[in-house]
Amino acid sequence: MVSARGVTIRPAGPADAGELAKLRHAFRIAIDPATEDDDAFLRRCGPWMEERLADPSTGWRAWVAETGAVAGAEASTARLVGHVWLRRLEKIPNPVGEVEAHAYLTNMYVEPGLRGAGVGSRLLEAALAWCREQRFGSVVLWPTERSRTLYGRAGFRDTGDVLELPLNPAHCGRAGVR
Ligand SMILES: CC(C)(COP(=O)(O)OP(=O)(O)OC[C@H]1O[C@@H](n2cnc3c(N)ncnc32)[C@H](O)[C@@H]1OP(=O)(O)O)[C@@H](O)C(=O)NCCC(=O)NCCS
Repeated sequence: MVSARGVTIRPAGPADAGELAKLRHAFRIAIDPATEDDDAFLRRCGPWMEERLADPSTGWRAWVAETGAVAGAEASTARLVGHVWLRRLEKIPNPVGEVEAHAYLTNMYVEPGLRGAGVGSRLLEAALAWCREQRFGSVVLWPTERSRTLYGRAGFRDTGDVLELPLNPAHCGRAGVR
């Protein structure tokens, strides 16, 4: 049985970007073959993440799962083992009392050795608590088949009212990683 004891969930900051880029890399190459050199990708993704986490006006937020981050321990013993990202989707102002933003949830990942112990659910809860605080209208995502149960337990439903036009099906990313 996997133990998630000692794993804490917290908002990500710009200082996490280097580690988060490595997690992003691990997440994606486990599903599809890389078409970009590992170091080149990390040099591109790290600064992209750092810039967005440093500036909330970009609409991006992320939460991380961290292990070894106990009070009094050296910061260097802490390690990131999971993350989830979301972006605010702004709507046009309207005069009828509707909320003016939704959210797009993406990049949900927990290291293989820690899966099945509730870490992913805790990451999701943290992101959704923030979405509720922000009074977003809804949260959308593309689930993998295997992760549908996780999102279903958090209240996600297949409402059947979102239309998608796949403009570039071979390159837009498979379900769950768009
Ligand atoms: C999805 C994921 C973040 C969940 O993290 P976790 O810590 O295992 O989650 P929890 O322990 O809180 O919940 C377990 C649920 O996660 C999902 N899950 C478990 N293993 C999974 C896997 N290999 N791939 C996708 N989802 C998985 C299932 O919904 C599972 O519930 P179930 O066993 O009742 O069907 C993690 O499994 C993962 O990183 N998977 C690979 C990347 C991925 O598919 N991300 C989701 C994109 S939409």
